[in-house]
Amino acid sequence: MRLVKGNNFISLKDYDRDDILSVMQGISSYDDQNLKRFIPNNKKKLIANLFYEPSTRTSSSFYAAATYLGHEILSINNVQYSSVAKGESLEDTIRTLASYVHCIILRHSEEGAAYSAVQVSDVPIINAGDGIGEHPTQTLLDLYTIYKEFKRLDRLTVALMGDLKYGRTIHSLIQVLDLFDVHIHLIGPHELKLPLQYYKKEYIESTMLTENIAMSIDVLYITRVQKERGAVGNYAFTREDAMKLDNKCIVMHPLPRNEELGDWFDSDPRARYFEQMSNGLAVRKYLLGEILG
Ligand code: NCD
Repeated sequence: MRLVKGNNFISLKDYDRDDILSVMQGISSYDDQNLKRFIPNNKKKLIANLFYEPSTRTSSSFYAAATYLGHEILSINNVQYSSVAKGESLEDTIRTLASYVHCIILRHSEEGAAYSAVQVSDVPIINAGDGIGEHPTQTLLDLYTIYKEFKRLDRLTVALMGDLKYGRTIHSLIQVLDLFDVHIHLIGPHELKLPLQYYKKEYIESTMLTENIAMSIDVLYITRVQKERGAVGNYAFTREDAMKLDNKCIVMHPLPRNEELGDWFDSDPRARYFEQMSNGLAVRKYLLGEILG
């Protein structure tokens, strides 16, 4: 599946290895010194940022990307002040916005919401996270961070640690890592295990970061407990864990973080979560560039 003008961007399910590698090249073409340059655009479009769930990075990086590309953003993030508060369905809200704008970026608390939106929209929908379903634009920035670091997506060992049950960033990321020659370790409490449908390959599972795992991994990807989705469980990346990790192992986190990743690690040269976050701008510029043409 190649991303072309007018496409929706809902899931990474239809992408193969070559597609992903060409996406990585595409993102790097947007990732230059002038990331924050405004590009005059005579094909200016209006884009709706429709957020039913809280967001800082995703909504503001889409906003910034659209603005730098010369587009305009219509932000609806306080849905309590829209007709949603009057009981309007997602479908009717999408129909309404689709008749006013050229593209809708949607974050919603229900899994599958982005697919429902596609059914009633004649403008492209970008999935900015659908409940515990997927978060494909986050996955592109996660992958791009790995790609930038290692210059490849093959021959890597990645540990996914934390809330594997409710974390949509994990659900999207694991599907794409499976396309590559990547060994995956799943680390987390039993009650937050990865749902069965995501087991496409053999993964090595454990409840903690053992010395053996720590020494073998290139990437440690930590996530928070999704308490707002009913998750219960506890874990944290500790100073002892950090000592076990190889010097070349990078530590990622989609953010926001809670107690699972303390700020004591921020100055460690292996921390990559702030780079990861800033890579979101190039990724979203690339996506809007491709989809809006
Ligand atoms: C993630 C999300 O919304 O799923 N945040 C993000 O977009 N960077 C991760 C999370 O909320 O835990």
